[in-house]
Amino acid sequence: MNNSSVTDTCKDEGLLCHDLPSKPLPHVGTILVTGASGYVGGRLIPELLARGYKVRVMVRGRKIAYKSRWTGVEIVIADALNEEHLRTALDGIDTAYYLIHSLRLGPKSFEAADISASANFRKVADEKHVKRLIYLGGLEDIRSSLSSHLGNRIEVARELKKGKTPVTVLRAAVIVGKGSASYEIMQYLVKRLPVIPFPRQARNKCQPVAISDVIKYLVGVLEVPETAGKDFDIGGKDILTYVEMLKVLASFLDKRIIFVPFPFLNIRLYTYLAGLLTPIPNSITRCLVEGLENEAICNDESIKKYLPFEPMSYKEAVLRTIPPERQDNVPH
Ligand SMILES: NC(=O)c1ccc[n+]([C@@H]2O[C@H](COP(=O)([O-])OP(=O)(O)OC[C@H]3O[C@@H](n4cnc5c(N)ncnc54)[C@H](OP(=O)(O)O)[C@@H]3O)[C@@H](O)[C@H]2O)c1
Repeated sequence: MNNSSVTDTCKDEGLLCHDLPSKPLPHVGTILVTGASGYVGGRLIPELLARGYKVRVMVRGRKIAYKSRWTGVEIVIADALNEEHLRTALDGIDTAYYLIHSLRLGPKSFEAADISASANFRKVADEKHVKRLIYLGGLEDIRSSLSSHLGNRIEVARELKKGKTPVTVLRAAVIVGKGSASYEIMQYLVKRLPVIPFPRQARNKCQPVAISDVIKYLVGVLEVPETAGKDFDIGGKDILTYVEMLKVLASFLDKRIIFVPFPFLNIRLYTYLAGLLTPIPNSITRCLVEGLENEAICNDESIKKYLPFEPMSYKEAVLRTIPPERQDNVPH
């Protein structure tokens, strides 16, 4: 495995977890990363490689398309809806990251697909004696009923936990980073609209987290075996309303935007309009914007006992998404 080239690329992108309190564990066998073509999976793989782990990635697309993306990984083509595919993907695996999400299928179909995929995965992981599963899902809102998207993230955790293999569940709100669907939607709204009307739900609170901190938690729980079988909320340093998040983003992108409260704006109509305004597939935008209905803040801080590091503030996380040549305009 050529780890030095991976490490160099990652340093350039400011990706690596230099300040993780945990250390790589030499006895961990092959690690499977599912959702490798997705946002979080794509960021996790170089980190695992740089720390010396043996990695197998699971994708649905053609192998050739991924060959040049990661050096030193084994690529397996598998659909989680197919148990036979999973038998190949999970054969000889020590720990598997479960980062599968079917939002692309749209509001009517994604829930059933995600539940079947997680049920298959749990069943085959048990069959193949996988030692640990690590799943990244969404934060729970203990005050009110969950949107279909957030409810589904919790259901997937429950499904994975029905088996014998211990599951570590990490729960996060909006992940701030270039390429994260929820963050990209916010960027498009700010870049494209001079006036942003917002519904009352946009005053709900959120605890966004930087992608590099998410990667630290994902790798960290692997390297702290006491986290096996436990659930953790993970979040950034700040709690803001969704409108405050948009305002910070607007000031960092040097956009003068008028924010107009529309307390009676119907959330369904709002999700529909937001869907039309972003190039992200409409199905994804609608499901994610619906999540404004819920507060997304950490209810438990027990992760700090196992991985004591200071996560980034929202502003630091946003700053990381702005190219250096455009950072002169950023307010201090
Ligand atoms: N991004 C965020 O802001 C955020 C925030 C909190 C929590 N999370 C959680 O983090 C996890 C990963 O999210 P993400 O943003 O990386 O998602 P993503 O970019 O949408 O990626 C989803 C991945 O799932 C794969 N997939 C879907 N159905 C599959 C199937 N049947 N078999 C195999 N693979 C399948 C997709 O593969 P294809 O390319 O083949 O479709 C893709 O690689 C999710 O559980 C999500 O809830 C994300």
